[in-house]
Amino acid sequence: MTPTVLETPPAFREATDALRAEGHVVGLVPTMGALHPGHLALVAEARRRGATKVAVTIFVNPLQFDRADDLERYPRTFEADLAACAEVGVDLVFAPAPGSMYPEGFQTHVEVGELSRALEGAHRPGHFQGVTTVVTKLLLACGPCVAVFGRKDYQQWRILERMARDLGIPATIVGHPIVRERDGLAMSSRNRLLPPADRERALAIAAGLRAAGEAWERGERDAATLRQHVLTPVEVAFDRVDYVFLVDPETLRESEGPVDRGLLVVAGHLGPVRLIDNLELGVDPLPVTG
Ligand code: PAF
Repeated sequence: MTPTVLETPPAFREATDALRAEGHVVGLVPTMGALHPGHLALVAEARRRGATKVAVTIFVNPLQFDRADDLERYPRTFEADLAACAEVGVDLVFAPAPGSMYPEGFQTHVEVGELSRALEGAHRPGHFQGVTTVVTKLLLACGPCVAVFGRKDYQQWRILERMARDLGIPATIVGHPIVRERDGLAMSSRNRLLPPADRERALAIAAGLRAAGEAWERGERDAATLRQHVLTPVEVAFDRVDYVFLVDPETLRESEGPVDRGLLVVAGHLGPVRLIDNLELGVDPLPVTG
């Protein structure tokens, strides 16, 4: 069945309030559309976490883009997204126009401190403030819910968890493991912007992370060595590398020496497309394959 589409925050809230009044637990999956199996895994995760009705939000949030060309190029595939939602039994789709999220005179922003300044924050000024502002608005519009985010955007997930805790937002924030293509490429809406030759080059990230993961399995614990497994292939294949670090999975501060857990994070450019990926070491079982 086609989900009910809501276009304004009050209409969305009215719909979720009605569901909660019937005793339902609402799951929320915030997205910017261009849905892929990774997003659909988030819908399934919401149900696993107790949601009896699931709402997907589709909103390309202008506040979180630090480059106008990136915003313009971001894939928009609403009809296909709606069909994908219908296929997996999503109940509500919230797809607001920018004007209903940010009406004339809008001037309030939400910002998380230290966690927002590292990694992506250092390379994309204003990005996380845009994310935390829109997600606050989405969580307020939805009301109490289980909200599921992908851990490909690991830092985003940590920031949102912190934000919900700090502000007392009545939402359970869940991070779902990365879903990968068969060849290892982390699923991302941006992948469809890659021409075939660049998609091939993109695999250097997965190859590097895999090598680091294997080294970890063999007992390697030195942060610099683990990092180097990723840096070497990515430096060769990518046009520009923003960062490759091994960080603490909670503080996101760079780790040194021997570690008993860690998060390898990587960001790089292939032509105009910027890709990010990560691997959790000593934290979680292997990532999910789509
Ligand atoms: O991860 C995303 O797609 C976006 O950053 C989010 C959480 C939907 C906010 O716009």
